[in-house]
Amino acid sequence: MLYLTRREVFSASHRLYNEKYTDEENEKIFGKCSNPSGHGHNYVLEVVVAGEADHETGYVVDLKILKEIIDKHVLKKVDHKNLNVDVDFLKGINPTVENIAIGIWNQLEDKIPRGRLYSVKVKETENNFVEYKGRNEIEFR
Ligand code: NI
Repeated sequence: MLYLTRREVFSASHRLYNEKYTDEENEKIFGKCSNPSGHGHNYVLEVVVAGEADHETGYVVDLKILKEIIDKHVLKKVDHKNLNVDVDFLKGINPTVENIAIGIWNQLEDKIPRGRLYSVKVKETENNFVEYKGRNEIEFR
C-alpha cells in the first residue's frame, strides 16, 4: 500500500464560539480564538490518498488531478474567506481545526478518482494540528 500526500496552504479567518454561551463563557472556553471580530491563520492542509501504483502510469492517483480536485472543492471555498460565514460546508459549524478537517474530508471523500482518501491533516499553527481518517478507519487487505 502506498500513501500519497498532496500538501496545500490556505489563509482564512474564524471565530470560535458557541452561540449558546455568552461572550464571557466563550472567552473562557475558546480564549483568544473567541475574539468577537475574528482572527486569521495560515493553514496547512495535507491530503493523503492510499492505493497501489497503476501498472501503466506508476501513479496511485495523478497528483495534477488530485490538486485540481482539492482546489475546486476546498481551496476555492476557504482561501481568504471567513470560515464562520463564507464556506458552504462549514455552515452552522464551529470552525475548530477538528471540524475543518472533518468538513474537508467530507468534501473530498467521494471525489478521489483512484485509490481511497486515507487522511486529511489540517495544521492551524506550528504546534496545533489534527488528522482525520473518517468515521471508520478504512481497512485494507
Ligand atoms: Ni484560531
